[in-house]
Amino acid sequence: MNNWLQLTLFVAALALSGTAIADKDKDWQKRGSTADKVEQIIKTLPSTAHVMIEVGERYQNLYWAGKLGQWEFAEYQAEEIVKLIELLQISAPKRAATSQVFLEHAMVEFDDAFEKKDWNTFLHAFRTMRAQCMVCHNDNDHGFIVPPEHPVTADSVILNLPR
Ligand code: HEC
Repeated sequence: MNNWLQLTLFVAALALSGTAIADKDKDWQKRGSTADKVEQIIKTLPSTAHVMIEVGERYQNLYWAGKLGQWEFAEYQAEEIVKLIELLQISAPKRAATSQVFLEHAMVEFDDAFEKKDWNTFLHAFRTMRAQCMVCHNDNDHGFIVPPEHPVTADSVILNLPR
């Protein structure tokens, strides 16, 4: 190998290892200050859009569990919707106040419906909840997102509906 080639290879190897070191330095999980780490972790918290995908899915599951008379499963879906909105209050503080409105008004009729195991009482409770979904969408400049009054199907494998 001539000297020139040797030197070129040496410089290239040096540059590569330099990049590796620089990448390692950028690894905030290993080298970041506590403040950096907190800042980065906050950025990974679920956004409203992320949470809403699951809320939407549970909305369908809740409706169909009620329609199929699977009352315990319906109750479980309702509880999970509440937990998701509580999670949103923490992960998206700018939605905290409107989330609180939902938590106070949306789910108030379900206890009665689950106790009676009655479709019409349930449907009334579901409509009350849906109205509050829309109140929150309107108050957060997303009034164009309108959950369907009668979801045509639901995703949960437990309900085993055609998709
Ligand atoms: C705290 C206010 C709030 C509540 C309560 C709320 N939403 Fe939302 N929802 C939003 C916002 C804001 C968006 C738009 C997402 C964004 O800003 O990133 C959204 C978006 C959505 C989406 C679209 C998700 C996507 O990206 O495709 C669905 C579906 C949805 N909401 C369903 C519901 C249902 C169903 C309920 C009631 C059970 C509900 N939401 C309750 C604020 C809310």
